[in-house]
Amino acid sequence: QNDVYTAGIHGRKPTVPADFAELERRARAKLDRRGWAYIAGGAGEGRTMAANRAALDRWAIVPRVLRDVSRRSLEIELFGQKLPAPVLFAPVGAGALAYPDADVHIGRAAAELGVPYIFSNQGCAPMEDVAAAMDATSPGAPRWFQLYWSTDDRLVESLITRAEKMGAAALAVTLDTTMLGWRPQDLNLGSLPFARGEGIDQYTSDPSFWEIVGERLREATGEKPEISLGAIRTLFSIARNVPGDLWKNPQSSLMKRLAAPEPRAAVQTFLDIYSRPSLNWDDIASLRERTSLPIVLKGVLHPDDARQAVDLGVDGIVVSNHGGRQVDGSISSTDALVDIADAVGDRTTILADSGFYTGADVFKALALGADAVCIGRPHMYGLALNGADGARDAVANIIAELDLTLGLTGHTDVAGLDRSALKDLR
Ligand code: FNR
Repeated sequence: QNDVYTAGIHGRKPTVPADFAELERRARAKLDRRGWAYIAGGAGEGRTMAANRAALDRWAIVPRVLRDVSRRSLEIELFGQKLPAPVLFAPVGAGALAYPDADVHIGRAAAELGVPYIFSNQGCAPMEDVAAAMDATSPGAPRWFQLYWSTDDRLVESLITRAEKMGAAALAVTLDTTMLGWRPQDLNLGSLPFARGEGIDQYTSDPSFWEIVGERLREATGEKPEISLGAIRTLFSIARNVPGDLWKNPQSSLMKRLAAPEPRAAVQTFLDIYSRPSLNWDDIASLRERTSLPIVLKGVLHPDDARQAVDLGVDGIVVSNHGGRQVDGSISSTDALVDIADAVGDRTTILADSGFYTGADVFKALALGADAVCIGRPHMYGLALNGADGARDAVANIIAELDLTLGLTGHTDVAGLDRSALKDLR
């Protein structure tokens, strides 16, 4: 049963375009310049994004015939959870640039499909609120939490505790963003999301964050902590409603209100807290001791790193170049997936993301050794166009095409996929 396709046969349109190219075009028309730059943009000259596409195109699907594909299943099991399809909603921060209360709507979308939503550490809603919205849609709907490892262990500890409490089935630790990459589209517009107060709600809903901010601002400015704390709260809550560049408008009354507590220091303080450039293997070993949740390392591209991760006892890897947003000229997700599946495919769970935008793309990833695929920009574009329904349908379309591709290539389940389904054109 393929609901999307059946609806198409009966003349019902999906709420968002069924092909990625049109989905992207329509989202571009809908988003403002800054939102488009941040969501669609890549690192540097965009070469990694291009490589992600080109590498996928160097594998061709070779269909088989006469294999009775009348009954098919996309089901998989991931860390003890049965899932209806081998896809997840990738963690995406600052989603409110696309749609108000982005995370809550994405949570509903994922809950309706029954596939996991990996909450971003830079989400636009506290994780507890997103979890509640998912439970209201479908009790116990699968969710994971994605951690950016803060420079302060108190915040790391607090975020993990909250994630455990809100029912995270796994913890994805993102390793490729110890610093934000070179993002010319954002830089040219003078618009990095945090400076606009987007993507900070996991932090601002965390008591330990305010404790740390207070201490650091006191050190930086000599202010009394009460004054600094009040000021930074005001800054972050107002900044999200201010269009344009907060800092370039010294006449604004907002600037006057914020002048005393050094708003630049406040934002710099946030940037200093959110991610830890000194992160290393010892930290991951300590995390293994700290939590019994499955640990998945996101952003692994080198097979040696994959081996070390598995030796250390992590439960899975997300082969990812962050949607081509971090290192320009990086290895493509597909080339890295091939290397990593060869290195550790029989020893760990492998997820992949970055540039998998259609059912056929996901099919190739599975055949090359991925156990599941995370979808990033497609669900953001769907969200931008039509909120929760759009985010849901963007991913439902991918799942529906995957189901057809499976059947049309002579397969009845995803476990049966391997490289014999593909021809290597490299
Ligand atoms: C991301 N990504 C990301 N990853 C992460 O671990 N934490 C985050 O907060 C974010 N934020 C984020 C914002 C936006 C706008 C995008 C597009 C991406 C990366 C994301 O999880 C995933 O790796 C990529 O999006 C996958 O590539 P595609 O599907 O977008 O090509």
